[in-house]
Amino acid sequence: MPLLAIETSCDETSAAVVHQGRVLSNVVSSQISLHAEYGGVVPELAAREHLRNLLPVARAALGEASVTADQLDAVAATRGPGLPSALMVGFRAAQAAAFVLGRPFLGLNHHEAHLYSPWVSGQPPLADFSKFQPNVSLIVSGGHTILVHVRSELAHRVLGSTVDDAAGECFDKTGKLMGLPYPAGPEIDRLAEGGNPKAYDFPRPMINDPNDDFSFSGLKTSVRYFLRDHPGLLDDTQRLRDLCASVQAAIVDVLVTKAIRAAKRLDVGCVTASGGVTCNRSLRQRLSAACERERLTLRLAGKGLCTDNAAMIGILAERKLAVRTDATLSDADILPNWALE
Ligand code: KG4
Ligand code: ZN
Repeated sequence: MPLLAIETSCDETSAAVVHQGRVLSNVVSSQISLHAEYGGVVPELAAREHLRNLLPVARAALGEASVTADQLDAVAATRGPGLPSALMVGFRAAQAAAFVLGRPFLGLNHHEAHLYSPWVSGQPPLADFSKFQPNVSLIVSGGHTILVHVRSELAHRVLGSTVDDAAGECFDKTGKLMGLPYPAGPEIDRLAEGGNPKAYDFPRPMINDPNDDFSFSGLKTSVRYFLRDHPGLLDDTQRLRDLCASVQAAIVDVLVTKAIRAAKRLDVGCVTASGGVTCNRSLRQRLSAACERERLTLRLAGKGLCTDNAAMIGILAERKLAVRTDATLSDADILPNWALE
């Protein structure tokens, strides 16, 4: 029987119906334009918008999957990490739905679900997931940069994470310094296409450190000083493109180098990546080239599945139910700071 999954941890309201490893529907309502004028996600606005959108989004997901609520086998939702007020909307609604339907409820870790988003669609199907384990997984978003060793299904260990800004945050903050609109990541990606990534030399923080941690705040600071020392540069479109390409190259260099190094050290055969920054074309190309060179299989989250979505929550929930992982208690609460271990 199918399962309904809900995701409201940040600024995407999403509901999905999943059945036997297949995503029957995955409806995502993004709030990006709502938060753009504030230069970042405003938690209370996000929560209010989730309240407004959740029911229509859930109804659309059930409708698209041709499934009625009483046909559901279980209900799952993101329990954390995320913005407390935003998480609360989806978590409590899913918990209440499970209670009313008399079905198990699963409150899941958002980052554990990201580990499954590269497997949500495409070939090979999820049934072949085990062939690609162990693997090293990169989760790169606006709030997080995490490198994970996935040893086998539902068994993973965090290798490292950012000690300050996340990779997406670095794109967004350096873009803001360049006068680009929020979120700046996609805009930097677009402008970088016509730029020279070697035009300006920015630091690659922690790239040679023996650990698997990341740091991006120093890069942001060096862009700030660079712009102070090069007044007028932003008025020259080609130099702006060069700047975008150079900043992007620094971020991508660190991500690719550290992911590949961890994969080789741990002797895994596969690397995966998910999270909003995985949309970045240079990151996708560079990971693909590096994996080919090192004879590693690469599995990237597909289009529309890099950013937050309920399909990945549903896929993880199904795997948990398959191994009889206990349902979440019906009086359980959200865990806004729930770190992946
Ligand atoms: O996963 P996500 O939608 O939300 C969370 O942060 O949880 O990721 C959003 C982040 C933003 O920082 C955005 O700038 C970045 O992903 N991003 C990109 C691209 N598309 C989205 N960064 C670089 N290049 C892109 N094409
Ligand atoms: Zn996410």
